[in-house]
Amino acid sequence: MRGLLAERAELLVWLALPRRTVMRQVVRRTLLRLHPRVLRDVTSVRTATTVLGTPVDTPVLVAPTAAQHVVAPGGAVATAFGAAKAGSLVCVSCLTNQPYTEIRDTGAPWWAQVYVLRDRGLTRDLVARAEAAGAAALVLTVDTPVVGDRPHPGPASDAPWYGGHLLPTAVPGDVAIATDLTFDDITWLREISRLPVVVKGVLRADDALSAVRAGARAVVVSNHGGRQLDVAVPTATALPGIARALTGTGAETYVDGGLRSGVHVLAALALGARAVLLGRPVLWALATGGADNVQRLLSTVTAELRHAMTLVGARSPDEITPDLAGPVDTAGAQPPG
Ligand SMILES: Cc1cc2nc3c(=O)[nH]c(=O)nc-3n(C[C@H](O)[C@H](O)[C@H](O)COP(=O)(O)O)c2cc1C
Repeated sequence: MRGLLAERAELLVWLALPRRTVMRQVVRRTLLRLHPRVLRDVTSVRTATTVLGTPVDTPVLVAPTAAQHVVAPGGAVATAFGAAKAGSLVCVSCLTNQPYTEIRDTGAPWWAQVYVLRDRGLTRDLVARAEAAGAAALVLTVDTPVVGDRPHPGPASDAPWYGGHLLPTAVPGDVAIATDLTFDDITWLREISRLPVVVKGVLRADDALSAVRAGARAVVVSNHGGRQLDVAVPTATALPGIARALTGTGAETYVDGGLRSGVHVLAALALGARAVLLGRPVLWALATGGADNVQRLLSTVTAELRHAMTLVGARSPDEITPDLAGPVDTAGAQPPG
């Protein structure tokens, strides 16, 4: 039987493996330069915004990550507590063994991430339970018809990955993710639930538009943290075109992948995102200090964002506009527009 600490260490190594795409996401962000405004009276700078109408104190949200209970006891619930205390919103993976009702009881606003399973009846049940427990949206992840080619098998754990959401009806074979998803499945989710649908894992403007035409209210520009298709386009590269494509549709755009500081968040918002999601940093915080550390992480990145907003003359997320960020080779030149 493996000790919990050894197991956590193994998980952290698994999560931390440098993949080319992750590195490239970070590098891509360092290739951006900010074009600060001055003389804007930055006495009061606020980070509060809304995501699909839900008020949040920060545009820094929590990405869905599976099996958080392997990282820390009560993982997904501890993460939700941390998010609640930081005024953030948590996206709960369907691959976790903690029930939705316990997430609800933390008081955090939350979205339920959904993998459509081969047995769509199980997905229907999952969606019904999420809606009954107060999820504010469904986040349909679409970049995982098969699991990416990962160099490490992942954590060995005696803790079941599934349970709170998928048992007792599910048995391991049933939880396999469907490979036959199409844009019609977005419409199907809209039909079986009253919740807005967010489509996560979009990297192309044409796909983003098709998702919105099929009924999605938002997309997450994501390559699954570089864990699916290596050398897939960095999200910082894909984001501006997608945000432009969705302008005027009323749909919101979010982004994740390699975001590690408030300046990264500022750049993401300038490139067209309304909010960002953090994945691995939340797991690292959870592993090393539970709910308190998750709160500290989210509050620290938010404080960094506020500081950066002050320095670029943006007093609210609305004032973080595309002219604030440009590629490194135009540094020193006039910002567009
Ligand atoms: C260990 C781990 C588990 C994940 N599990 C899920 C999941 O269950 N559903 C999902 O949509 N995305 C999942 N993701 C992807 C994240 O939601 C997110 O897209 C990615 O981690 C963001 O990049 P970052 O970790 O660099 O912030 C997972 C990522 C990691 C690292």
